[in-house]
Amino acid sequence: VEFKPLAGQSVLITAGPTREAIDPVRYISNHSSGKMGFALAKAAADMGAAVTLVSGPVNLSTPEGVTRIDVESAKNMLDAVMDNVDKKDIFIGCAAVADYRISDIATCKIKKSAEEMQLALVRNPDILATVASLPNRPFVVGFAAETHDVETYARDKLKRKNLNMIAANDVSVAGIGFNADANALRVFWPQGSQDLPATDKLTLARQLLSLIVKEKTNT
Ligand code: C5P
Repeated sequence: VEFKPLAGQSVLITAGPTREAIDPVRYISNHSSGKMGFALAKAAADMGAAVTLVSGPVNLSTPEGVTRIDVESAKNMLDAVMDNVDKKDIFIGCAAVADYRISDIATCKIKKSAEEMQLALVRNPDILATVASLPNRPFVVGFAAETHDVETYARDKLKRKNLNMIAANDVSVAGIGFNADANALRVFWPQGSQDLPATDKLTLARQLLSLIVKEKTNT
């Protein structure tokens, strides 16, 4: 990229799934590949930003020039974000953070015995909402994976989590979104919206970052 619209800006991005331990050998997680977050990190670096990428467990290589911090659980991810959010200009929460964690992680491997067993879960902290509530907060961008009523749920999240922008994708459409190389986004901010039609995640990342640059200068 010749023109560097993010020169002098620092960007913090979360990506990938989180892993919530059950015992020393087992965990709860989800199908997030981390591809969208890594594409955003690469695109932001190409546009001249200093990029810090906090990633859950994924099989992706770190884009050139990006500082990567690997984490496992949602709590680890929150700690890494809070340790690195100071003086950031833009925060993009792209990670598929587990909504719940095991309330008491077993210290030894759980042995099978009864035909049924129950796991008690507790809510994880909301990393995005936590960043959005900071004084001197960065420009905060969230993601929303929805299967229906995309605009209603996305706009609700934008308001409820006090975000500057939200990028929603319809995960019920086959071939885009989770784990795929392509995606399509519907981007909403308080004063407007823009549809970004299906394409590869790097192209979408560039388009989303251009919208962020534009909207950030308006706020
Ligand atoms: O409420 P929901 O999980 O659909 O919101 C999705 C957005 O919130 C994503 O940007 C995700 O990274 C972020 N999130 C978070 N911490 C959580 C749950 C979601 O940062 N515990």
